[in-house]
Amino acid sequence: MSDHSQLLSPGKLGALTLSNRILMAPLTRCRADADHVPTPLMAEYYSQRASAGLIIAEATMVLEGNSSFWREPGVYSEAQVEGWRRVTEAVHARGGRIVLQLWHGGRSCHPLLNHGRQPVAPSALAIQGDEVHTPEGKKPYVVPRELRDDEVPGIIAGFRRAAENARAAGFDGVEVHGANGYLLDEFLRDGSNRRVGPYGGPVAHRARLLLEVTDAVSEVWGADRVGVRISPLNGYNDMRDSDPVGLTAHVASELGRRRIAYLHLMRGDFLGQQQADVVSAARAAFSGPLVGNMGYTPGEADAAIAAGTLAAVAFGHHYVSNPDLVERVRRGLPLTEPNPATFYSPGPAGYTDYPLLTA
Ligand SMILES: Cc1cc2nc3c(=O)[nH]c(=O)nc-3n(C[C@H](O)[C@H](O)[C@H](O)COP(=O)(O)O)c2cc1C
Repeated sequence: MSDHSQLLSPGKLGALTLSNRILMAPLTRCRADADHVPTPLMAEYYSQRASAGLIIAEATMVLEGNSSFWREPGVYSEAQVEGWRRVTEAVHARGGRIVLQLWHGGRSCHPLLNHGRQPVAPSALAIQGDEVHTPEGKKPYVVPRELRDDEVPGIIAGFRRAAENARAAGFDGVEVHGANGYLLDEFLRDGSNRRVGPYGGPVAHRARLLLEVTDAVSEVWGADRVGVRISPLNGYNDMRDSDPVGLTAHVASELGRRRIAYLHLMRGDFLGQQQADVVSAARAAFSGPLVGNMGYTPGEADAAIAAGTLAAVAFGHHYVSNPDLVERVRRGLPLTEPNPATFYSPGPAGYTDYPLLTA
């Protein structure tokens, strides 16, 4: 059995120094208030997980009016910056590091969550085969409005402003959310992007928005405090691409040239359908630190770091239910399974009440 010595060893992602390579993956938990302001309960939740090598805080709206969930946080208002400051201070007080995942929901947003506003996307194609939770119950996704090219600078400016706000809130860096079928991923993949012009067509055009956003937030933070997350195979939110390996190689190579802090790669498909070796494609094309995610056990993560494939691994569901995951891995203690019924429910149940085995 692995002693997990690689996973537990200190490391670096760009300018971010890590006490270990066990990262907390971004997890939407819908515990912000009705104005999308982070709550004291969120500060408690994140501080419980401060022993992670790096916390990647949940998907956070960069621009008002783009809600896709119930009570997810934003980072566009003064009150939200204040709320996040309480979170970062609580994590730092326990010696942790925390970056914020910057997010635009694109076509996953629903008018009932956004004062009637129609969502925007690269193309006027609705998410099929799933429904969204709204205050009026489950509803089909709506057909989004196709963004005009002259509106794209406003989106980039929103990410830039959010990056500035994240700095004001005391984060250690930011992660650009280019995964899981939200706006930047919708541009990346040809199943959801049927545009012509500078942001559609060949992969170099479809990746342009992600790279322009990365450049804008890098101007705020320095590229060595900016991570980027992609999920080239994930079918969640009705997503697909005709060449996920080619897409991965192109994005990885462009991000490598920019010397970002890390590339965060979701290696699989929540739906289990789309399969390819995107990890090897990313490793070959990307010169910087690669963070792996999706279905890793601590043992597999340790081996991937020992082999030089990955610099660190982000754990998702394990971090829902094991606030002291690092210490459990260190001592070889069993991991608690999370309860999906409380993933997005209000209050502390299933949020801050998972026990610390190692207290
Ligand atoms: C409750 C829940 C919320 C999630 N929220 C986000 C999110 O805000 N941003 C994101 O990029 N991924 C999100 N994910 C995906 C996770 O970050 C991660 O990719 C997924 O859990 C797979 O990793 P695992 O096998 O270690 O659990 C979420 C997953 C879960 C279960």
